[in-house]
Amino acid sequence: MKKPLHICAIVGARPNFMKIAPLAWAAEKRGDVFFEIVHTGQHYDKNMSDLFFDELEIPEPHANLGVGSGSHAVQTAEVMVRFEKHIQDSKPDVLLVVGDVNSTIACAMVASKLHIPVVHVEAGLRSFDRRMPEEVNRVLTDCISDMLFVTEQSGIDNLKAEGVDDAKVHFVGNVMIDTLLRSKAKADKSEILRGLDLEEKFYGVLTLHRPSNVDDRQNFTAIWGALCRIAEDATLVFPVHPRTRARIAEFGLTVPDSIKLLEPIGYLDFLKLQSSAGMILTDSGGIQEEATILGVPCLTLRENTERPVTIAVGCNTLVGVDPELIKEKALAIVRGETEKPDVPQYWDGRAAERIIDTIAQALRKD
Ligand code: UD1
Repeated sequence: MKKPLHICAIVGARPNFMKIAPLAWAAEKRGDVFFEIVHTGQHYDKNMSDLFFDELEIPEPHANLGVGSGSHAVQTAEVMVRFEKHIQDSKPDVLLVVGDVNSTIACAMVASKLHIPVVHVEAGLRSFDRRMPEEVNRVLTDCISDMLFVTEQSGIDNLKAEGVDDAKVHFVGNVMIDTLLRSKAKADKSEILRGLDLEEKFYGVLTLHRPSNVDDRQNFTAIWGALCRIAEDATLVFPVHPRTRARIAEFGLTVPDSIKLLEPIGYLDFLKLQSSAGMILTDSGGIQEEATILGVPCLTLRENTERPVTIAVGCNTLVGVDPELIKEKALAIVRGETEKPDVPQYWDGRAAERIIDTIAQALRKD
């Protein structure tokens, strides 16, 4: 019997869970891959972490490094120190990291220096805004990765422009969309609309957690003003990230009744909320992609996006933090002035299979 290919996969923060899930399923299906999951513990609350393992049927992590919160330097360094110890014992054939969070770059750096090949899933995305911590993480992770799996054409173009060897780059589609397509039927059974007394299409979903939007009093207050204006005409449902909840209290923002604040919610309830919404307002990266597949008009409360395909196919509009523009675009959606977006290439539910097959083909020692 051949020894299984040992892939060590990292999860740290909430957006990683829905990306790792289909990769774990695809590895299990092959039968010749040992898919080890290491949780760094960057996110640790039940609603920010455990719930996703249950709902997405992700196997229990083999290890949890229990890193927790801290400044960027503290968090990144802590992951590196703890992960180095782990990987020296577990000796995988390859490290797989997803996305752009601090755990992604921290583990990639450790493996790279131990000469363990690094695979980056969701490579090549660029906002060209180095003030975003995620942009720094993306550029650095791609620089030291040996195989780069890309979700959209812009990723290929960006990596080419940065001089990355074409042979390392694979255009495979979007693992987060694999999870969405697989979970949609289950999510449709969610009772969340009934629980919140919401009517299909007659509300918007709001998420907001980027430090540049919520940590800056002036920006957050301006955005909040625009959201309150929109909330005069439409109910907004707002599952609140812990960082954002702290800022709402600190800045003393008043919450109107038509903005319904919720604790962070699970994947299935959130998918139901998104798919039944009339519009989505967000500063998240992944939610722009989910909105695109669900065909729900999305306004992105940022000046840039690292996911330009969501704009190209006609789902997403950048509105920055300009209250007038946010209001104008939101009201256009309410008036029904939107078209059904196209589906980006390869966002077909099979990205994870392509990734695992490509890794196995490249690295399996026979
Ligand atoms: C991280 C990612 C971001 C991602 C986001 C999704 C980086 C640089 N950023 O940002 O890309 O979009 O996750 O949520 O990695 N906290 C809790 N409970 C938790 C986790 C965090 O209360 O389970 C609070 C803590 O006060 C913590 C703060 O949230 O200090 C920020 O958490 P952190 O992981 O540092 O960054 P996020 O803003 O969540």
